Amino acid sequence: MAITVGARPEASFLDPVGMLTDCHRRVLRFLGDLMSVSGTFAGEVLPALSQQKLVTALRYFREAAPNHTADEEETLFPRLRAVPDHPGLRGALELVESLERDHATAAPLHEEVDQMAGRWLEVGTLSEFEVGRLSAATATMLALYREHIAAEETQLFPLARKVLDADALRACGREMAARRGIDFDAWQANVALLGH
Ligand SMILES: [Fe+2]
Ligand SMILES: [Fe+2]
Repeated sequence: MAITVGARPEASFLDPVGMLTDCHRRVLRFLGDLMSVSGTFAGEVLPALSQQKLVTALRYFREAAPNHTADEEETLFPRLRAVPDHPGLRGALELVESLERDHATAAPLHEEVDQMAGRWLEVGTLSEFEVGRLSAATATMLALYREHIAAEETQLFPLARKVLDADALRACGREMAARRGIDFDAWQANVALLGH
């Protein structure tokens, strides 16, 4: 996990909800990069730096973002659904359903952006019409994610921290590590060894 000097260190598998929040910052940053590249170079050959931005953003959305969705749909949401009755939980479970619908809505947009931006990198230029389609799909995603992330961070995640006990949170961290091919116990022993 990268640690940026002067910034808050990124959350680890010991804080799975914090990790989800950190992922949101990356989602918004890479969508912002896609927006700025498609808004600046319509119909043009991309400069090297912008090509690199596209490559990095596309790679993030292809490889890392699906893990985030799985972290929520397969790890966090089922645990919230399993919590015995708790004030606020009924509303939260309705929210979970709408968040899952958002994930489904975002999937074809991701595909469209991946195809169009991928073609831009492959062929070198896209027509203004094609870049317009890329911008429109990215803008739709950005609007969707802004609202989605706000709902998760202001409503669902605070509740998750309240209603999930330490064992449940630890199990979330363990599953999220496994999803990334990391053995949680070995990772934790290493963290302890390094004195983090
Ligand atoms: Fe989500
Ligand atoms: Fe999320």
